[in-house]
Amino acid sequence: MAKSLIAGNWKMHGNAASAASLATELAEHWTDQNSVEMIVFPPFVHLTQVSVAVGHSGVAVGGQNLCQFESGAYTGEISAVMLADLGCQYVLVGHSERRALFGETDQAVAEKFKAAQQAGLVPVLCVGESLQQRQQQQTLEIVARQISAVIESVALEGLCRAVIAYEPVWAIGTGETASPEQAQEVHGAIRAQLGDLGRETTLLYGGSVNPGNAAALFAQPDINGGLVGGASLEADDFLNIAQQLIEQE
Ligand code: PGA
Repeated sequence: MAKSLIAGNWKMHGNAASAASLATELAEHWTDQNSVEMIVFPPFVHLTQVSVAVGHSGVAVGGQNLCQFESGAYTGEISAVMLADLGCQYVLVGHSERRALFGETDQAVAEKFKAAQQAGLVPVLCVGESLQQRQQQQTLEIVARQISAVIESVALEGLCRAVIAYEPVWAIGTGETASPEQAQEVHGAIRAQLGDLGRETTLLYGGSVNPGNAAALFAQPDINGGLVGGASLEADDFLNIAQQLIEQE
């Protein structure tokens, strides 16, 4: 069985006080679940506070991005080792906002993925198609290509040890969600691409997940949880979504 996971991507929101209070509230209400893992991805500058606030609650912490290089003259960048040093266990790799707004190519994403694993972090690889690509029936091809780039870098075995989040770009932050059937179609294709080695790989859905649509998405056979943006900024909503995942167990 793939591990179920609920992840909150805080993006570039909040400040030191709000990050600490959100993390504290989650930690207070999250009783360490054997079956479901919770992760939060705060902005880099709030990682320390959030790590301290979650303490031993079982809520894990991750970075939203990393540099593919180990160390050196890369002004403004953050390495995988630096994230691990601050208590991160996970890191988002190739989020569509990184790909679309900051020019991250499949190649760069594959290098970042490898750097993350080398530092002992679990990468959460984000893949997904744009609206235009979906309209042109290219969804499965685009997602397969994004995944293949990482397989070339770390081999199938490496990829299968990570987490993959399918996030249709047109559903991110738009309030529009893929239907459970649309999401399952892509998750099923990803599972097939991974083959036997990927039977226990955690596959998340992301894109406007909220308390009203989470249960139907999590009920799909190849969806093992969610990567939640907007709704993860409210502790009540995020905990509600997490509870719906627990109830699927
Ligand atoms: P959203 O963001 O839930 O606000 O659509 C999801 C994500 O970008 O990971």
